[in-house]
Amino acid sequence: MRQDHLLTTKQLSRGEIEAVLDRAAEMDADPAAVRERHADELLALCFFEPSTRTKMSFETAMKRMGGDVVDMGHVESTSVEKGESLADTVRVVEGYADAIVLRHPRKGAAKMASEYVGVPVVNAGDGAGHHPSQTLLDLYTLRENARLDGLSIGIVGDLKYGRTVHSLAHALANFDVDQHFVSPESLRLPRGVRYDLHEAGASVQEHADLSDVLPSLDALYVTRIQRERFPGEDEYRAVAGQYRIDEETLAAADDDLVVLHPLPRVDEIAPDVDRTDHARYFQQAHNGVPVRMALLDLLLEES
Ligand code: CP
Repeated sequence: MRQDHLLTTKQLSRGEIEAVLDRAAEMDADPAAVRERHADELLALCFFEPSTRTKMSFETAMKRMGGDVVDMGHVESTSVEKGESLADTVRVVEGYADAIVLRHPRKGAAKMASEYVGVPVVNAGDGAGHHPSQTLLDLYTLRENARLDGLSIGIVGDLKYGRTVHSLAHALANFDVDQHFVSPESLRLPRGVRYDLHEAGASVQEHADLSDVLPSLDALYVTRIQRERFPGEDEYRAVAGQYRIDEETLAAADDDLVVLHPLPRVDEIAPDVDRTDHARYFQQAHNGVPVRMALLDLLLEES
């Protein structure tokens, strides 16, 4: 991968995506082979928003490759509380670590941070912007459980604020994929993302009703309504709970349909789906480790 940072999936070619997925498959097959590959290297974790999967899987990935992490900890315990800027924070942190993983509530924060430092920055989520490392593990899971070229995927829920959706849509445009976006009108895919997909020649359709498209899908990517990004509680309540997937919903789906979700879920996938062969979202979360090992391996190799 000839990249200094991972900020969006828009920056990635098909070949670069496949290189990460192939490296991840190697690491999955033989984790011991890379045990000392990054001995003595340090990864800084700077999370200005909550995280379970992204933070812990990056930490696991780095430690599995013989490295270690330095964790900024809760933002309330840092000098951000005294008014320190993000630019100053990352300029300090680059002196402590070989790469920085940054999650921040402000769209564009990771890009801005990358302009101030000489070590690789991975965007681990910037507001309602992008979450590219999530997409790499989504693609890895799709490739393992279904396919990429020839795939028909439904992406349902909060397409406006869901950063995993924006990153996934851009990345899928590199493959021969039919993308079906299902949402209420108020949570449609942002105009800018739709424009990019059009420019890329992607096959895209929008729907309000999941039942219009469910039977034809190979994969269903369900997302949480991003309550924390709504301007007010009333706007959230107007759309909450509109697309709840349960075993009954999936009776109309193909037997081989795989259901993915970046997690955390609230109530958009009922627990009864967990016991079906459709459910792949926990495997998807576990894939965060080999995929992030591969990503770090490639970024640290280049830096
Ligand atoms: N999928 C994801 O980003 O999960 P976390 O918020 O727990 O990191």
